[in-house]
Amino acid sequence: MRWLSCCEESLPAEPDWLSAREAAYLETIRFTKRRTEFLLRRHTGKRAVAAALGWPETGLARIEILNRLTGAPYVQVDGERAALDISLTDRAGWAVALVGSEGSMAAGTLGVDLEIAEPRSDGFVSDFLTPREQEYVAAQGDRDARDAAANLVWSAKEAALKVLRVGLRVDTRTVEVEADHDADAEGWRRLVVRHVEGQEFPGWWRRDADFVLTIAGLDPAPPPARLPGGDDLAVATPLHSWVTNPLVGP
Ligand SMILES: CC(C)(COP(=O)(O)OP(=O)(O)OC[C@H]1O[C@@H](n2cnc3c(N)ncnc32)[C@H](O)[C@@H]1OP(=O)(O)O)[C@@H](O)C(=O)NCCC(=O)NCCS
Repeated sequence: MRWLSCCEESLPAEPDWLSAREAAYLETIRFTKRRTEFLLRRHTGKRAVAAALGWPETGLARIEILNRLTGAPYVQVDGERAALDISLTDRAGWAVALVGSEGSMAAGTLGVDLEIAEPRSDGFVSDFLTPREQEYVAAQGDRDARDAAANLVWSAKEAALKVLRVGLRVDTRTVEVEADHDADAEGWRRLVVRHVEGQEFPGWWRRDADFVLTIAGLDPAPPPARLPGGDDLAVATPLHSWVTNPLVGP
């Protein structure tokens, strides 16, 4: 598994790196927030695929990131399915792409999710987390630590539900997160997400500035390596650029 993070401030002024199909879809988006998020996820995903293939960034229009009916993404290169799996996420002006080997049609091989360590209400914790996860959150020392733990658990659930390619169509309490806090030299810490039916999704998490990043996979794997290029999440500031201009157009 390899990963890349990018900031929306690195988006090129002109979207000439989109394929004709992606550009046509872009034209249908009316809200600035959705448009920026779509562009940021596509740009981050394409840069990650280009880096994984050893391509220069001039080749981005030849790479397409399309979506299955479920919403799960897949990669085409020069119109042909590429033999790699991808997962995408964005939050507050930053996006992460995770690429790995190809998944089966039924389930992916990997999932990634980015969140801000932001305040989460007691209602959020009791509605979406399992009793054991609620205990884990409650056991943290102070409000900030409890918010960080709630966001970590929520994010890891989303990452695992992306591996399953179901997303938030299912009850988030059908998967339970257990997180380790010992970091390796790159800042990765272990986690595992267990499904009520017995399947386990091992993964990793990290904290960069205000952001919590989680990944989950079908099989145990070393922490993902950083792909060349991109922007450094460790110095990231959350951005909400769409607020001043919510609608696309003049
Ligand atoms: C997958 C999901 C949990 C991600 O939501 P999110 O945290 O708001 O967004 P993120 O930025 O982390 O992830 C978005 C990316 O997730 C991926 N994704 C979407 N649905 C997915 C699925 N079923 N499985 C795996 N990945 C999925 C896509 O790549 C998407 O980016 P893209 O549309 O530009 O390709 C959410 O979109 C979901 O549950 N979707 C399925 C249910 C649905 O479609 N509901 C209708 C909208 S309410």
